[in-house]
Amino acid sequence: MRRWSEGQHAGRQGLAFGADYNPEQWPVEVRREDVRLMAQAGVNLVSVGIFSWSLLEPEPDRFDFGWLDDVLDDLHAAGVDVSLATATASEPAWLAQRWPEALRVDAAGRRVVFGSRQSWCPSSPVYRERSLKLVEALATRYAEHPALRLWHVSNELGCHNPHCYCDVSAESFRRWLSGRYGDVEALNAAWATAFWSQHYTSFEQVQAPGSTSTFKNPTQVLDFARFSSDELLGQHLAEKEVLRRITPDVPVTTNFMIGSQLNPLDYGRWALEQDVVSNDHYLIHGAYDDPRGELAYSADLTRGVADGQPWLLMEHSTSAVNWQPVNIAKPAGQMLQDSLSHVARGADGVCFFQWRQSAGGAEQWHSAMVPHAGEDSERFREVVELGALLDRLGELRGSTVTHDVAILVDWQNAWAMGGETLPSDRVRHADLALRIHGVLRAAHLGADVVPVGAHPGDLATVLSRYRVLVVPTLYLCDDATAAAVRAAAEAGTHVLVTYLSGIVDGNLRVRLGGYPGAFRDLLGVRVEEFHPLADGVACELDDGTVGDLWTEIATAADDVEVLASYAEGATAGCPALTRRDLPSGASAWYLGTSVDDEALERVLREVCAAAGARPVAAAQGPVDLVRRRAADGRSWLFALNHGEEPATVQTRGVDLVSGQDVDGLDLEPGASAVVREG
Ligand code: GLA
Repeated sequence: MRRWSEGQHAGRQGLAFGADYNPEQWPVEVRREDVRLMAQAGVNLVSVGIFSWSLLEPEPDRFDFGWLDDVLDDLHAAGVDVSLATATASEPAWLAQRWPEALRVDAAGRRVVFGSRQSWCPSSPVYRERSLKLVEALATRYAEHPALRLWHVSNELGCHNPHCYCDVSAESFRRWLSGRYGDVEALNAAWATAFWSQHYTSFEQVQAPGSTSTFKNPTQVLDFARFSSDELLGQHLAEKEVLRRITPDVPVTTNFMIGSQLNPLDYGRWALEQDVVSNDHYLIHGAYDDPRGELAYSADLTRGVADGQPWLLMEHSTSAVNWQPVNIAKPAGQMLQDSLSHVARGADGVCFFQWRQSAGGAEQWHSAMVPHAGEDSERFREVVELGALLDRLGELRGSTVTHDVAILVDWQNAWAMGGETLPSDRVRHADLALRIHGVLRAAHLGADVVPVGAHPGDLATVLSRYRVLVVPTLYLCDDATAAAVRAAAEAGTHVLVTYLSGIVDGNLRVRLGGYPGAFRDLLGVRVEEFHPLADGVACELDDGTVGDLWTEIATAADDVEVLASYAEGATAGCPALTRRDLPSGASAWYLGTSVDDEALERVLREVCAAAGARPVAAAQGPVDLVRRRAADGRSWLFALNHGEEPATVQTRGVDLVSGQDVDGLDLEPGASAVVREG
């Protein structure tokens, strides 16, 4: 994987700064204004052509590049680099009219109609053929254009079409299954088809898991999710292959949608195919208690996906979006602080959706760098201020971030835990991982978020680098992952495993003999029966804390220290929190119930203390602390006060936000500093 900061951004001082740019929505006079305002804001990178297929190819094989030639020439003249989209994200009307079979079909068997975006079926041969013709034409046209800095394949692949249930997709699913299992008996074994008379005698009998009369086969659903992720990756790779052939030196990216919910593509696996990892992130109000904490988590996960290397924030919003029930605008200063939160966590560029707010269309109420009010607006003035700051932050380009603590996550586990028939639908992989991340952040410890799929073959090496590894609700744990966690513990990493981890293998087969089968020997804990709790029901522990959501009938081995047990109900007397010292000198901890943030913080602090994990810096108050380090020893401490109380931080150096020398920081609510230390 290349770094965004290497080569692609050569010759620039600052970090990348820009937006999706959709000039086709505007007359030529406005485009001239755009170039002037981009210069004023310090914009140096824009993504062009993302939704331009119908204008670039108004009818099959008739291309009209004239307008795009002008746009690229003007941008280049103004010193703005172009991340050129392959324009395949949204098919044109002629394609839908002539080949309606290229439109996707939902789980209920209904084919979507043209009139939105990304309506295509990921398995459609017609879509594949037509899209690659367009990519070939674009790449040939612009191969030598001096503005071309990066290829932007499609757009958020799988955002609206993650799964298709048409006959062509089902056929492709069968081919994928045949490749995975070889013969149908292996599939029968993996899917446990002896259950409910689902046994197959040929791959031809297997369907996509569309509408069924009751619960679907869980492994069939999981395999369909894996297949669907691979199918879209196939589209990405097909486009990339064309680009690589015609422009071997231009890096290729596609914008991921990494958020805490881990849907619907396995980006851990996808990242292995990227030249540059780029991500889109939006605050989701209403879904999270702390949307900006979710931002921090997602940015740390994006760095994990990028294997610790710098990445590019391809989209976020200057203010409100248009797709939530109530679209909350950002108060003054938040856009800058949110941007810094991404940069702190490894982004070497900050881009937005979009440059100029649309006057018409479904996104007319989505914020932009140039709002409807125009340049005479607080929003645009903030954009200019941010551009100047990102220019000053150019010195930290290429630097990296690591913490002492890692949280292990897995897309495929999140899909598995989304199943219809688990012991409790209240337990979701992403929820606890996000909470643990938030608690560690508030304690100024911070955490890396490591996705399983990004490290085939070397997960144990990656995990062994950490002092502490947290394994939260990793229900699905394949043999390789279980072995990697054990190997890290044997190498000296202290491990905290939580409830509902290590329960089933990669085919969702229960690991028998007592839960958690994958970690029973490591933890010295054996669970006989789950006792999930109904909403509002709590269970006291004998150390005064209270569990909810989950309890279990368990026993601990003799060499395990029981730190807390259930004090009431069916599980009374069973261990809820345990610790075992390992021959490696590390310790293996088990948390069998869900506790509130305060108790969770106590547990995490104890594990961190045992492991010698250190805070990012000494600080008081609600301040988010992250340090980026360069290979030559320089370091920058990001201190973002996102709370409502003042905060203090021990640090010395030059604050690149204020330009002042600092010796200790006092940060008012909403204030941010980036201290070049030393
Ligand atoms: C996604 C898409 C953009 C735009 C934004 C709006 O990120 O990639 O085209 O629709 O959402 O938030």
